[in-house]
Amino acid sequence: MIINWFPGHMATARRKLEEAMPKVDVVIEVVDARLPRSSANPLLEELRRGKPCLKLLNKADLADSASTKEWVRHYNAQKNTRALSLCAKKAGDVLKIKKLCRELAPHRGTRGKPVRVVVVGIPNVGKSTLINSLAGRKIARVGDKPAITTCQQQVDLRDGILLYDTPGMLWPDLDDQAGAARLAAAGSIGINAMDPYSIALFVLDFLVQRYPQTLQTRYNISSLEMPSAELLLEIGRRRGCLVSGGEVQPLRAADLVLLELRNGKLGSITLELPEDPRALKTPPSA
Ligand code: G4P
Repeated sequence: MIINWFPGHMATARRKLEEAMPKVDVVIEVVDARLPRSSANPLLEELRRGKPCLKLLNKADLADSASTKEWVRHYNAQKNTRALSLCAKKAGDVLKIKKLCRELAPHRGTRGKPVRVVVVGIPNVGKSTLINSLAGRKIARVGDKPAITTCQQQVDLRDGILLYDTPGMLWPDLDDQAGAARLAAAGSIGINAMDPYSIALFVLDFLVQRYPQTLQTRYNISSLEMPSAELLLEIGRRRGCLVSGGEVQPLRAADLVLLELRNGKLGSITLELPEDPRALKTPPSA
């Protein structure tokens, strides 16, 4: 992550969103489908001042589809909220968004009175990718980190939708240690923010509980009955993360597990579910 969320940055981001909100009809909140709660900032609820919200569970291609369905149900049950899972990189996936925005603001949606839409979310959830897919051209730089500005442009998406071309930035809630560990596991907060060894152990603990078969198959391990530090060494041994002398290098094994989680090689994995906010709360030890 490029931005460090110092209190000053948070105050500015908050002010910009507050300034923009009176001219917004629908807030599109982008979250990461693998960790929808941890990749959201609870403050948005207050900032959007009752404006309808379309929750987009992005990167659904990397998440476990059964869990994503549970999350969509969970958000659809909330007042003034609709939810959709998608892969923002796929133009076809974003087609439903305009219809949902019009449904959320039925008093608008005409040429003279378009639905004014802003995209918000924490860094790296895919806001810029989504804006580009919606606009059908590159107007927001992927990987770049713009904050919402008062002089930003609006893009006419046709069909009665007007979109702010810069996303509203929110900061991740890093006070929640387990949430921060999930963000680090998914690669959404900087590599220096938390140490990969602890995060890999956190991930292995989780996988043993939630996706044991996936873990066993991927690393060809018959029994998972061992502490996660030993499991990591076993994976390292099997995958050749060795130093001369044949000893396992735990950090290389940790990097390997995290890389394979992030790039989907471990399979489609969701790191949290709606009904268990307290489950897997144990933060990494170091
Ligand atoms: P942001 O504006 O919210 O900060 O996110 P941004 O669009 O910059 O996207 C962050 C990263 O997530 C990008 O990868 C982007 O390609 C990827 N991404 C966005 N949507 C999806 C999706 O639906 N599925 C998957 N698998 N990835 C998605 P990057 O490595 O930073 O850039 P690049 O590889 O695209 O060059």
